[in-house]
Amino acid sequence: MPTEFSARVLANRALAPGLFVLELADCEPLVGCLPGQFVMVRGEWGRDPLLPRAFSLLSARHGKCELLIKALGRGSRLLERSAVGATLQLLGPLGRPFPVPRAERRDFLIAGGVGLAPLLWHAEEAVRAGAKVELFYGARQEAELVLRERIEATGCRVQFTTEDGSFGRPGRVTAALQARLDEEHPTLLTCGPNAMMRAVVEIARARNLACFVSVEGEMACGIGACLGCAVQSAPGAARAYHYACIDGPVFDALQVVLP
Ligand SMILES: Cc1cc2nc3c(=O)[nH]c(=O)nc-3n(C[C@H](O)[C@H](O)[C@H](O)COP(=O)(O)OP(=O)(O)OC[C@H]3O[C@@H](n4cnc5c(N)ncnc54)[C@H](O)[C@@H]3O)c2cc1C
Ligand code: FES
Repeated sequence: MPTEFSARVLANRALAPGLFVLELADCEPLVGCLPGQFVMVRGEWGRDPLLPRAFSLLSARHGKCELLIKALGRGSRLLERSAVGATLQLLGPLGRPFPVPRAERRDFLIAGGVGLAPLLWHAEEAVRAGAKVELFYGARQEAELVLRERIEATGCRVQFTTEDGSFGRPGRVTAALQARLDEEHPTLLTCGPNAMMRAVVEIARARNLACFVSVEGEMACGIGACLGCAVQSAPGAARAYHYACIDGPVFDALQVVLP
């Protein structure tokens, strides 16, 4: 059941220009939530911006949580300036998670940009559960490939890619995935830019692989009230739209048409 609560900023760690991790305390309402779920966040900044912003959880353990944030517009830039000790208003946990890791399943995780957040947490949980998992993490350039030490500390097999070739395998993350799929038949879990996820879904279709996508479009309420997060249902579905905040953000790729 989502709860509205106040959380305290324990740390605000800059990772690269415009990319940062907020570590928050007093997050007991998030106990038991899972990778892929998200929170709506608002600072004590008056009426502008009025609406909270949605962020996937990078972790939620022992009454603390972490968010990996890219400063894009007004709300996320204000969050980037959060001081240690500041209070944020959170609503969560929200949404449906990625499938829980299972020892009998092999998961390939394909992350682009801040889409890393739920998939890094999934990787950590999968390794802890003894499940087989590999991470493919792509960005335009090396500076945007954040949290590399923490990724490597998971012990799972990792393929980094950059489009400009400044780190890891040069080119797109989907090319690295394709090359590896010649050897394996995993379930694909993906989060990142829509263009990247559409390419992952195409690969999954062509190879008849199960695939789950996390749709991180615009959200105003997070609880199914505003109907602003509609995602087109796949042809033949009983309903024309699914709502990313309550039916997702994680969907079986067969359920929806990515924007
Ligand atoms: C489930 C989910 C998970 C996400 N996880 C992450 C993450 O882990 N890290 C990350 O960096 N980003 C994440 N995002 C994206 C993040 O929510 C946006 O980058 C953030 O909202 C941008 O806010 P802004 O104020 O900086 O930008 P702006 O461009 O100023 O605001 C855009 C946002 O404002 C809201 N909004 C403003 N006006 C309206 C309106 N009239 N109607 C509806 N919505 C409105 C929407 O939430 C929209 O997303 C996630 C999004 C979703 C939906
Ligand atoms: S964000 Fe309001 S209905 Fe989904």
